[in-house]
Amino acid sequence: MNTVPQFKLNNGEEMPAAGIGCWMGTVGDSRQVTEMVLTALRLGYRHIDTASNYGNELSVGQAIRESNVPRSEIYLVTKLSSEDHGRPEKALEYSLNRLGVDYVDLYLMHWPQAFDVDHGRYCLPEDSPTFIESWKMMENLVETGKTRSIGVSNFSIKNLDILLKHARIIPVTNQVEMHPYLPQHDLLAYCSSRGILLTAYAPVGKHKFATNPSVLEIAQRNNVSVAQVLLGWGVKRGTAVIPKSTHETRLKENLTLVSLEDEDMQILDNLHRQSGMHHSVCGFHSSELGGSCFGWTYAQLGWDMIEGGIMRS
Ligand SMILES: NC(=O)c1ccc[n+]([C@@H]2O[C@H](COP(=O)([O-])OP(=O)(O)OC[C@H]3O[C@@H](n4cnc5c(N)ncnc54)[C@H](OP(=O)(O)O)[C@@H]3O)[C@@H](O)[C@H]2O)c1
Repeated sequence: MNTVPQFKLNNGEEMPAAGIGCWMGTVGDSRQVTEMVLTALRLGYRHIDTASNYGNELSVGQAIRESNVPRSEIYLVTKLSSEDHGRPEKALEYSLNRLGVDYVDLYLMHWPQAFDVDHGRYCLPEDSPTFIESWKMMENLVETGKTRSIGVSNFSIKNLDILLKHARIIPVTNQVEMHPYLPQHDLLAYCSSRGILLTAYAPVGKHKFATNPSVLEIAQRNNVSVAQVLLGWGVKRGTAVIPKSTHETRLKENLTLVSLEDEDMQILDNLHRQSGMHHSVCGFHSSELGGSCFGWTYAQLGWDMIEGGIMRS
């Protein structure tokens, strides 16, 4: 069985550096989700990333029970959806019931923006509940023991700066899209200096690096796969990685972390500087969204974009 390194969080808890992502591309429970998580647990994964609005917490919980892996050995993450910003306690209770567990290891605010269900629209940054108000309610959840840690997701330096001025608890992690096309070096430096671990989502870039000549060359020279190059880069730069795969061979590959030489790290660090390369593969930071994402402009989100869905820095 693979030994995955652990990252020490700012509250003393430990998170396995590699986990299984459970966003399936569509919302909902399915036997496929249960089988994927079961296979992952059998292969040695001990970090599971899901979310209330993936709609598959029941299937994830089913896999945990069927696996017979003790709950205490699993690092389980779920997320507060935008609709629930005004009621994190209720939302966490709902997630725990669906997962069939007494606690999660980490509860993340999925996005900084709240969604106003009554009016069917996203709230503006200054409208209540602001992310500061929601964070304060999340802070109270740690005392209940229903989550061991709290963190954020899709937070920029700008919004972390605002949050940290009011936070009693520093987020243990910020989960963001991160791979060599969107390395977010500035955000990594900012979070590292404040004790916030970054967790990279879409860490194998949704397999869009398969034809990139630089990444292919590194993979061939090291006799590993493209995904292993990307995950090795992610972990070596100090970020947790949560790739998703429904294929056993890929799941195994993704958990077999490789250590890259410094010169390969540098090539990957600089890949985004090549013309047209600096972009999101998830479509969140994308010109297709017309300058905004889930109701907030890029400026409100703190994303520095130029034309064509390309990031500036
Ligand atoms: N916080 C957020 O807002 C947010 C947003 C997006 C994602 N996430 C989390 O991050 C996780 C990962 O992100 P993601 O699923 O979007 O992207 P990803 O893990 O980079 O890519 C997943 C895709 O790559 C393929 N793949 C995985 N490993 C592979 C390998 N070794 N070789 C070839 N292809 C491989 C998978 O196909 P197969 O399944 O067919 O193998 C799947 O199509 C999600 O599942 C979710 O938990 C969080």
